[in-house]
Amino acid sequence: MLVLGIETSCDETGIALYDEDKGLLGHTLHSQIDLHKAYGGVVPELASRDHISFIIPLIEQLLKQTGTERYQIDAVAYTAGPGLSGALLVGSSVAESLSCALGIPSIPVHHLEGHLLAPMLEDSKPQFPFLALLVSGGHTQIIHVKEIGQYDIIGDTLDDAAGEAFDKTAQLLGLGYPGGAALSKLAESGTPIFNLPKPMLHSKDFDFSFSGLKTAVLTLVKKQTELTDQIKANIAASFQESITEVLIHKSVNAMNHLNLDQIVVSGGVGANKQLREKLVASSKKNNYQVFFPSLEFCTDNGAMIALAGSLRYQLSHKTDYRFSVMPRWRLNEI
Ligand code: KG4
Ligand code: ZN
Repeated sequence: MLVLGIETSCDETGIALYDEDKGLLGHTLHSQIDLHKAYGGVVPELASRDHISFIIPLIEQLLKQTGTERYQIDAVAYTAGPGLSGALLVGSSVAESLSCALGIPSIPVHHLEGHLLAPMLEDSKPQFPFLALLVSGGHTQIIHVKEIGQYDIIGDTLDDAAGEAFDKTAQLLGLGYPGGAALSKLAESGTPIFNLPKPMLHSKDFDFSFSGLKTAVLTLVKKQTELTDQIKANIAASFQESITEVLIHKSVNAMNHLNLDQIVVSGGVGANKQLREKLVASSKKNNYQVFFPSLEFCTDNGAMIALAGSLRYQLSHKTDYRFSVMPRWRLNEI
């Protein structure tokens, strides 16, 4: 079965073709980062318009690049949420139109399910059940993944998401938007000499809170008489040290609590070099396996949506109707 995947939840237009037997045939991506940079964040209306401009050319390009004819596509999967409503509407209307025109099923996909299944695009795949550490711009969650579609969220952020904390700290250091990758790069030339808080490190639950860490960085920045490049790099390194330690400590605790020995790390912050290196070191020490998507599939992309759609369709195909009816639909439930 060949699935076309469409991702338009935020500021990336991602298109992919995933074959159930052959794996990923190809993918294309258009990032809107340059478009939103000047505003210091995503402007929803501009995002929607840009998705409209790029979505069809990207689909055409991918079909050409992979030598695929439209009639060979068996289903079309698209991100149905969460995300920016206008942006989501672009992807979903194109997907539903293609589904209608080609007479193939459409599969609405949850964006976060795409992220947490993304490591399955790689050759070395985790086996169910496993733990997922989902760290993106909008979410920081620890999830017990029992099966496809069976997800227990056991830890969540109480305020800022990990990516948001990276972005806001990057902004304080004048690194621009979105900033996570730039901050990580800057940290490489710094030393973590500042003792920043490690929020909720020893709390018994698996929740996170990062807004205090961001405030501590703000106070630290204000205290500096001169914010030299070296001091900035040291602050970046100290921030990264704190946040990665909390993320890893909580994840290891959660694995012990649930008796799991595999973890997948996904979402944009999963691209962070230090997080990856520290997790690999911790996995050796604590005897667990760690799985990451390749860097291009950490941030938003169409491949994870095509894959999640394909896996979901294989399941629902066996158990569900393609559409639902409501035999006991009450008038007051309209
Ligand atoms: O998953 P994603 O592309 O979009 C959401 O669904 O939110 O994640 C984007 C987030 C941004 O906050 C970005 O700064 C962060 O991931 N990010 C990073 C790195 N690359 C992207 N954070 C830390 N280190 C990185 N290398
Ligand atoms: Zn995402």
